[in-house]
Amino acid sequence: MPIHINVVTVKRKSAYLRSFTFWYQYMQTLCFSNNKGGVGKTTSALNVGLALARRGHRVLFCDCDPQRSLTISFEGADIPEHVGMLLMRKGEFSLDDIHAVIRPVGENMDLLPASGEMEANEAQLPGWDAEHSTRLADILEMVAPEYDYCVIDTKGSIGTLTWIALSASNLLYIPVDPEFYGFEGLTNLINTCTRLRRRINPNLRIGGIFFTKYSPTYRSRLRHDVVDLIKEHYGKDVPVFETTIRQSTAIPNSQMAGTGLFDYAPDSTGAEDYEALTTEILHHLSHGH
Ligand SMILES: Nc1ncnc2c1ncn2[C@@H]1O[C@H](COP(=O)(O)OP(=O)(O)O)[C@@H](O)[C@H]1O
Ligand SMILES: [Mg+2]
Repeated sequence: MPIHINVVTVKRKSAYLRSFTFWYQYMQTLCFSNNKGGVGKTTSALNVGLALARRGHRVLFCDCDPQRSLTISFEGADIPEHVGMLLMRKGEFSLDDIHAVIRPVGENMDLLPASGEMEANEAQLPGWDAEHSTRLADILEMVAPEYDYCVIDTKGSIGTLTWIALSASNLLYIPVDPEFYGFEGLTNLINTCTRLRRRINPNLRIGGIFFTKYSPTYRSRLRHDVVDLIKEHYGKDVPVFETTIRQSTAIPNSQMAGTGLFDYAPDSTGAEDYEALTTEILHHLSHGH
């Protein structure tokens, strides 16, 4: 009898450990979005993803912007298959169908590429209702055991593609360039997130706002005023990151050279700031906020 009790205890313990391990290892999907262009969405998705992969995490990049800036950041990613094909496809798809679209783009890194066709397709995408908007979520769920993080880049507007991307995400990170900031856009995005959480994706949280092309040490007062205003207005409900991404010429230069920032200019402020942002993101994640 005591042996029986022991077995039960051991079984319970291992079930507990398994569930903990399952929770701990399950892929986290990080979405970079802001319904404004040029604020650093693609740059941030790319460099946070690169920083995660450099730390040994398995990363899947997913490009949900028909302008495909993230896709073309990777050499050799100019290929006919794209994530839009999976989103448009009617009926079921298999894991092999998904693998046919995924491209390896470096150590620990794969990519679900975008295509310009997705722009035209976006209008036809059945997206806004609960049944269809989880299409990307379904795709990512199937490959989740293969990755630690999925990093999604989105376009600069809340259309169907962004809605589908957010429906598949756990965390939304919002890059804000205080020089080109509009209250209305940010409020719209945050309200969209609330609606989505209520109706479709209860797992979605706002990971936080972070400022790009900005440092608290910059002289221009205007940007500081905007930063203070945002903190005041949203800071109670939305985390605001300590880390800011400073202006760094290494960022556009590395993109033009087609080389990752960490290889191109490892000592640049850009590389330093994206390392710091990634550390802060991981810190938030491990503390459950
Ligand atoms: N911290 C930065 N310093 C300097 N240039 C930057 C910085 N972040 C982004 N950029 C540049 O600004 C432009 C827009 O950035 P991007 O990430 O493509 O924005 P989005 O995806 O929001 O449209 C790009 O040319 C990029 O190289
Ligand atoms: Mg972009």
